[in-house]
Amino acid sequence: MRYYLFMLLVLVQGLYGWRIHRHGKHLEFLIKSGRNNVDLAEQWFTQILDHTNSDDGRTWQQRFYVNDEFHSNNGPAFLFIGGEGEMSPYWATNGAWVQHARKFKALCFVVEHRFYGKSQPTGDLTTESLQYLSSEQALHDLKYFINEMSVKYGLDHNAKWVAFGGSYSGALAAWLRLKFPDLVHGAVASSAPILAKVDFSDDKFHLCEPIENSVNNSKHISTLYLSIASKFAETVQYNDQLQTQITNVCNTMNNEKNGEPIDRLAAVVSSDDCLYYNYSGIVDSLMDTKVIPENMFRQWTYQTCTEFGFYATSSAHPSVFGHGFPVEYFIEMCSDTFGQQFNADYINSQVKDTNRRYGGLKINVTNVVFVHGSIDPWHALGLTQTRNPEVPVIFIKGTSHCADMADDNSPKMQAVRERISGYIGQWLSEVLKQ
Ligand SMILES: *[C@@H]1O[C@H](CO)[C@@H](O)[C@H](O)[C@H]1NC(C)=O
Ligand SMILES: *[C@@H]1O[C@H](CO)[C@@H](O)[C@H](O)[C@H]1NC(C)=O
Ligand SMILES: *[C@@H]1O[C@H](CO)[C@@H](O)[C@H](O)[C@H]1NC(C)=O
Repeated sequence: MRYYLFMLLVLVQGLYGWRIHRHGKHLEFLIKSGRNNVDLAEQWFTQILDHTNSDDGRTWQQRFYVNDEFHSNNGPAFLFIGGEGEMSPYWATNGAWVQHARKFKALCFVVEHRFYGKSQPTGDLTTESLQYLSSEQALHDLKYFINEMSVKYGLDHNAKWVAFGGSYSGALAAWLRLKFPDLVHGAVASSAPILAKVDFSDDKFHLCEPIENSVNNSKHISTLYLSIASKFAETVQYNDQLQTQITNVCNTMNNEKNGEPIDRLAAVVSSDDCLYYNYSGIVDSLMDTKVIPENMFRQWTYQTCTEFGFYATSSAHPSVFGHGFPVEYFIEMCSDTFGQQFNADYINSQVKDTNRRYGGLKINVTNVVFVHGSIDPWHALGLTQTRNPEVPVIFIKGTSHCADMADDNSPKMQAVRERISGYIGQWLSEVLKQ
């Protein structure tokens, strides 16, 4: 069972190229050494279930943390947005955003995303309940949260809010500023994929030597290919943040002492656990509607099927991983898991809607800084170039997914923080229109 869960973790998180969890906690792996890992009290907020229907009075309890150690009376409020995973309290006291908070004397809030971790609106994950899981509902949660907290903490009506997030929650930070510009004055969006795309097969996955193999197009074989590719995808995405680095993988692949190419591949992929590739077993487990706080597979799969796609497929030409896991494989996983109505037409039209709602790469915002790392393949779905001074972009050479969010005191990352802090300073000094 342990193998099973472990492989599922690697597989599903890896297959979406989106592995922002270590030990199930949202982005926690970025925190290398906590400055002060004080356990702040877990707090609960009465949140609205359906923001799109005012007749529906149902509410639920959303988890959050507050860190007021830096706050001064006229200081701003900073909001760290939870993404697709359990929210770690460590973020309330750690990370680059906390350094900005100290500088600007901000009141810090960390909020968990609905349906992840312990923030469970319905107590289950049935497809019926998951209709309330969307980025749009999550943004409204944040809007409501900001309004209520401003009152609860007696914030001056001129107090400015700045949102922070990484990966999916980085996109949420930018979209929060887009949708509620009167409420949120600026956003720092790290490694944010703001373009939804069904088939995300980026050339960046091309690594080392080509691996040619003939494939039988069964789902199990697809899954096997996928789990092999996941290893590469994960390495490229996180590089220096994980034990395996790109150079290790390439050295192993290129070293003839390790045997035939297939053996070298095995050496890269091997770990203490066996390689799990039973498609039906994975779908069975995705169909489990029970809440396990540190588990996010079913919820995130649902969001990819209904909003984002983001399937790291083998459709790039030429694809080093063969054509073993085409986009159809992922779409079938959606319909096998959630029902036949979650088919290709549905997913394509949902992804189009997402881009229409938020503007995709043409997002029409001000006061948002987008930060990307050059070796993170996800930058392909993010804003990496701009001519608009109100939407600056920081493209960091040689860093991986969300690296800028960590407490990294290397000169390179300090320089990045200085730039970000310069933007935040500008936003906070703007005089608000009354
Ligand atoms: C693919 O499957 C078919 C039928 O199940 C089998 O006859 C064939 O040998 C397989 N091909 C490969 C390359 O494994
Ligand atoms: C795959 O998983 C399913 C469902 O858990 C199980 O019934 C089946 O025996 C497994 N197949 C293999 C080849 O392990
Ligand atoms: C961008 O947003 C501004 C302010 O909300 C609006 O006036 C403008 O028309 C929008 N531009 C486009 C291209 O949609």
